[in-house]
Amino acid sequence: MKIYVPMDSAAKALGADEVAEAIAHEAVARGMDVEIIRNGSRGMIWLEPLVELDAGEGRIGFGPVSVEDVPALLDGTLESHGLVEEIPFFARQNRLTFARCGVIAPLDLDAYQAHGGLAGLRRAIGMSGSEIVDEVTESGLRGRGGAGFPTGIKWKTVMLAEASQKYIVCNADEGDSGTFADRMIMEGDPFTLIEGMAIAGLAVGATKGYVYMRSEYPDAIKVMNAAVDIARQQGMLGPRVLGSDRAFDMEIRVGAGAYVCGEETSLLNSLEGKRGVVRAKPPLPALEGFMGRPTVVNNVISLATVPVVLEKGAAHYADFGHNRSRGTVTLQIAGNVRRGGLFEAGFGMTLGEIVNDIAGGTASGRPVKAVQVGGPLGAYMPVGKFHTPMGYEEFDAEGGLIGHAGLVVFDDSADMLKMARFAMEFCAIESCGKCTPCRIGAVRGVETIDRIAAGDGAATELLTDLCDTMRDGSLCALGGFTPFPVMSALSNFPDDFACRKEAAE
Ligand SMILES: Cc1cc2nc3c(=O)[nH]c(=O)nc-3n(C[C@H](O)[C@H](O)[C@H](O)COP(=O)(O)O)c2cc1C
Ligand code: SF4
Repeated sequence: MKIYVPMDSAAKALGADEVAEAIAHEAVARGMDVEIIRNGSRGMIWLEPLVELDAGEGRIGFGPVSVEDVPALLDGTLESHGLVEEIPFFARQNRLTFARCGVIAPLDLDAYQAHGGLAGLRRAIGMSGSEIVDEVTESGLRGRGGAGFPTGIKWKTVMLAEASQKYIVCNADEGDSGTFADRMIMEGDPFTLIEGMAIAGLAVGATKGYVYMRSEYPDAIKVMNAAVDIARQQGMLGPRVLGSDRAFDMEIRVGAGAYVCGEETSLLNSLEGKRGVVRAKPPLPALEGFMGRPTVVNNVISLATVPVVLEKGAAHYADFGHNRSRGTVTLQIAGNVRRGGLFEAGFGMTLGEIVNDIAGGTASGRPVKAVQVGGPLGAYMPVGKFHTPMGYEEFDAEGGLIGHAGLVVFDDSADMLKMARFAMEFCAIESCGKCTPCRIGAVRGVETIDRIAAGDGAATELLTDLCDTMRDGSLCALGGFTPFPVMSALSNFPDDFACRKEAAE
């Protein structure tokens, strides 16, 4: 019998290691023939540790499993959720990027290949750089790190740049609140990211790659380092990628924990050993990036999606989606929800469907008040905007943004003035200090919100004015987008601001 226990850090935080140990111990005591496989997470965090039992008739899920549940699990008396892939939260998904995550042991390259891995890279080896770039462009894949910029167009700029050395840099800083897709794929299916980076290297003529990871992800760092070693030993990386005459190799680098180091130019400075300060653009990193050379900077999910695009073809990928948002979105549902986790599906579902139907509403049982979509720089979407379909342009039209597709749900006990203050304070703390609207503006923003809280109604106009200045005058999106959460809180929830004035009067 095979028993799967995730080694994902969310599952570990909920006791997966102890459960795996207890299963091993109990199986020995009973003389049972049990193979324990440490897989990635299926993304159903409210069920973690989700233990899967395979006795030859499919993988049956149990969870959350505690150490005390282990004897009943092995007796066959523990209540199950049935086949894991038939659990409604899972069955409703279209898993392309996350197809293998939670299915295989993350560092098993044979299992990776048995589940479609390396097919994309093998195909790419037989293609010219421009054919690969065209395929990615036709898939409609847009950057999943925040800005939604078309990946194929970025690659084309790097491909056409003349240089003796080019680079692929993977942005694995994942600093947005409520996001964990990058971590989950790196811990659960690291070869997908390595394969995507190798394909990017072949496409643009880069022979070297770096993954810039946040130091707060020790498990992911360990798995990625081990995966790179295995990939190199097995000839997936190195001077002859999969036996071809093409070279590509990569290294893992660890940041020191600044939100702004997720911004691509700041990241490049940090990667070069400099202070993580934003660079003015132009020049674009695509032309003068790492060490001044043409560089592709892409998010983990953007790069980890490339293998499936090459494996199944651009049309297959583009077939999913909605209007100009093609393919799948890897939603990360967090905050006050009954069912939080990773949900991958074609763009186009409405925000209301995701929050009420898929996530099951709030964990507290109270009415939903707001959902912050897109991390700390994303707008607070009120229930009145729940009709908005997941799509870059659709969210933009409603004053929101998708960003890295993290959703943080709040119930009606949330105080939106406090949330607006938090957004300004976050910007003040994380500002790299290079431009005045952000460095000074965010500090003044906190003070102005405190004035509103103290009953100074006139400060509302000042806050609006300040947000306009930050939006229009900041060098990067940290200062430029902080007005999204602040102004969305103010305009969608005016009562949370007005009542302070009335109370003071
Ligand atoms: C303050 C700030 C933080 C950011 N943090 C991240 C991050 O953690 N991960 C990421 O992929 N992109 C982040 N971005 C976006 C990157 O600058 C860049 O757009 C992205 O890495 C490009 O990759 P993509 O085209 O694949 O999305 C951030 C941007 C800003 C302004
Ligand atoms: S907006 Fe803020 S983080 Fe961005 S460059 Fe200006 S000071 Fe730095």
